[in-house]
Amino acid sequence: MKRVIIAGIIILALTGCIKRVEEKSETFDDKKAIAACEQVIAEYQQALKRELVSAMTSGGPVGAIAVCNVAAPAIADSFNARPGLDIKRISLKQRNIHFAPDSLEVAVLEFFNSTVEIEPLTYSNLFTDSAGVIRFRYLKEIKVGQLCLKCHGNPEGFSSGLNAALAEKYPQDKAVGYNVGDSRGAFSVTLTFPEAEATITELLSENGR
Ligand code: HEC
Repeated sequence: MKRVIIAGIIILALTGCIKRVEEKSETFDDKKAIAACEQVIAEYQQALKRELVSAMTSGGPVGAIAVCNVAAPAIADSFNARPGLDIKRISLKQRNIHFAPDSLEVAVLEFFNSTVEIEPLTYSNLFTDSAGVIRFRYLKEIKVGQLCLKCHGNPEGFSSGLNAALAEKYPQDKAVGYNVGDSRGAFSVTLTFPEAEATITELLSENGR
């Protein structure tokens, strides 16, 4: 019920930019698409976490910044090699300015930010653009945990080495000042059809393993 209301608000906000595909919703299996998105987000999150934890263990937060700077975009690229799939992390207060949210993502992130839910919220919808291309969009909120504060918390508590490393790699960094439980941003998945059909089947079979 909540999801329906969220979708309604955002569609209203974006009337004119993006059109909802009403006629497709009866035949489109959104349960399958959502399950595939959840699966790819889980795999992506695990890959990022593995990289982060091993980089933190060997080089502390300063060393991990250098690793994340290269590894995080590379991990995204490897997932995005799958047909019809695009996954990224977005935020209203970004560290990496190359992943700026689009207008739909801004509207959803602002909504996520305005709630006090403990569990991460999700948003999904099916769209067609002016060229008739059909896309399923799925966003899942990312909450701040204790570990995240080491690099996204209050910078006054960071070592000078960490502040210097952040200033060097991310001179326009806005991703600090968070507390545990805050909304940090979201995973944003786009499935483009018909290419995504094979990717969905593959992801669902990975889920069954
Ligand atoms: C070792 C420091 C470090 C830790 C710990 C860390 N991050 Fe980050 N985070 C980064 C760096 C560096 C980037 C930019 C990566 C890039 O260039 O793509 C980033 C980017 C992000 C982004 C992408 C959006 C943006 O602002 O560019 C999100 C979302 C994010 N982090 C969430 C988290 C969460 C949630 C945690 C805790 C589970 C966490 N981070 C822990 C360093 C860290």
